[in-house]
Amino acid sequence: MARPFLQVVSVASVVAIATATTVVHYPPAQSKTNNLTFALTGTGAPGIFNSSTVPDASYGEYNWCNMPHVRPREYKTPSHEYTLEYVEVIQRHHKRTPYASNTFFKEDVAWSCIGEGPVAYGKGPSGVSSEVTEIQWQAFRSNDNPWINSVGPGFVGSTCQLPQITADGIVDSHTHGSDLRAVYATRLGLGQQFNPATAQIRVTNNVITSQVAGGLVKGLFPGTENAAVLIQSSTYDSLEPTYSCPTADSLRSAYTSGSSNWTSHLTAAAPLYAKLDSVSGTSNPDSAGWHSSLDHYYDNLSAKLCHGKKLPCSVNDTSLCVTQDEANTVFRLGNWEYSYYFRDASDSTKYAALHYGAWFLELKAHLEAVVAGQSKIKYFHNIAHDGSVSPVLGFLQIANMVWPGMGSEVVFEVYKKGNEHFLRVLWGGQPMVTSTPMGTLDLIPLQTLLDYIDSMVGSGADLYAGCHS
Ligand SMILES: *[C@@H]1O[C@H](CO)[C@@H](O)[C@H](O)[C@H]1NC(C)=O
Ligand SMILES: *[C@@H]1O[C@H](CO)[C@@H](O)[C@H](O)[C@H]1NC(C)=O
Ligand SMILES: *[C@@H]1O[C@H](CO)[C@@H](O)[C@H](O)[C@H]1NC(C)=O
Ligand SMILES: *[C@@H]1O[C@H](CO)[C@@H](O)[C@H](O)[C@H]1NC(C)=O
Ligand SMILES: *[C@@H]1O[C@H](CO)[C@@H](O)[C@H](O)[C@H]1NC(C)=O
Repeated sequence: MARPFLQVVSVASVVAIATATTVVHYPPAQSKTNNLTFALTGTGAPGIFNSSTVPDASYGEYNWCNMPHVRPREYKTPSHEYTLEYVEVIQRHHKRTPYASNTFFKEDVAWSCIGEGPVAYGKGPSGVSSEVTEIQWQAFRSNDNPWINSVGPGFVGSTCQLPQITADGIVDSHTHGSDLRAVYATRLGLGQQFNPATAQIRVTNNVITSQVAGGLVKGLFPGTENAAVLIQSSTYDSLEPTYSCPTADSLRSAYTSGSSNWTSHLTAAAPLYAKLDSVSGTSNPDSAGWHSSLDHYYDNLSAKLCHGKKLPCSVNDTSLCVTQDEANTVFRLGNWEYSYYFRDASDSTKYAALHYGAWFLELKAHLEAVVAGQSKIKYFHNIAHDGSVSPVLGFLQIANMVWPGMGSEVVFEVYKKGNEHFLRVLWGGQPMVTSTPMGTLDLIPLQTLLDYIDSMVGSGADLYAGCHS
């Protein structure tokens, strides 16, 4: 009789895990972004792609090169009975060179980073002024090394580490930090110097997030000379994220490479691909992912435009060039892809819950510590990637998904009124509109978000089990 009893217990525990989370997908709003017909046949770029600057009058507009963030001019202060207690920011890094994997593009635009290389050194006990000097990396290529061609001809003539935040991207990082300071320093009582007792900065294992931190921290805390930032092991980092979650991976491949809902846009884009391939010399099919999404062409073309470079022409035929219209179509399709990955695909919510659940559990713990009056930390800033900000938007089920551009930012603000805590979530500096029953995240009871995180993730054990089920 022991056996049936055990079976009953195991069924009960399966039910407990299954009911611990109730992930509900609320489809996004219909817009030009997730309209495939418009992406394929419409006109124009879905925002600004050629400058970090946006005129004040249209600030808030999508700018791939430098997304809108919280700053004094647009910030809306809640009525005076609300007191700001805690702010947590997650942002994508600022503008950069392309990734090396996106540069097998045999064309005619070179990158120079002389004097602007990333800095890497060990600080030593007393820092830069005494035992050590600042060390900068300058990429070079030697024809004596027979492996150089494995990096792709695009590397010829580049003195950049690919990827690295460019000098312009460092300036944007600094501006971002000083804009946040102008809004939050007085409200939260933050000092001139970075003080880890009241503020935390967190980066990923990808060094470009530390390059951004250098500019951002100096803008946020101008008196700072050096700062220790938080980083988790690359084997389980929740911010990038890099923790292993096979269930999430199979969900995503089922609704992308395994689904005609995904592959049909690639088929429909065949004429565009043929033109881009003829300029870049990329073969079709290829083994580096140029034809499994628009990602690589998007990155290659947008990084050029954001840095004031021209669109590329073929190295063999200077009259065969990518046109602005073709680039705009790549940008529309790229945004369609991100809306599909994180919002339109019905399993995208489940994917975000598993793939980014660990970070949300950490956020929830930070928020609960604030409510319990146990937190001395007032400000927490995470510097991450589009692969981090996107699942945050997918998890919260933003109504209008886009591909989060450079410096894009989500801010969680905790306010107190009387004895109650309220939450405001800002996307591009304004309250985030979601498709969930939470609606617009504009001073909702904080508990509503905590309950929502519970419903999506459950406990740490639930998440771990869900990732390996
Ligand atoms: C999608 O875009 C096409 C082309 O612009 C337009 O004709 C169609 O009405 C749009 N569909 C929706 C649902 O908005
Ligand atoms: C950027 O592109 C817009 C149109 O997309 C154009 O009007 C503007 O002149 C361009 N700016 C620069 C600096 O090239
Ligand atoms: C695109 O590819 C070319 C050739 O590989 C390379 O020179 C360039 O740096 C890449 N990216 C951009 C954004 O230009
Ligand atoms: C494709 O989309 C349809 C309509 O949204 C949906 O019913 C179906 O489940 C999707 N298929 C896959 C494999 O994602
Ligand atoms: C340029 O021409 C050479 C020689 O025909 C060829 O091997 C190479 O693939 C061409 N490159 C591009 C980008 O078309």
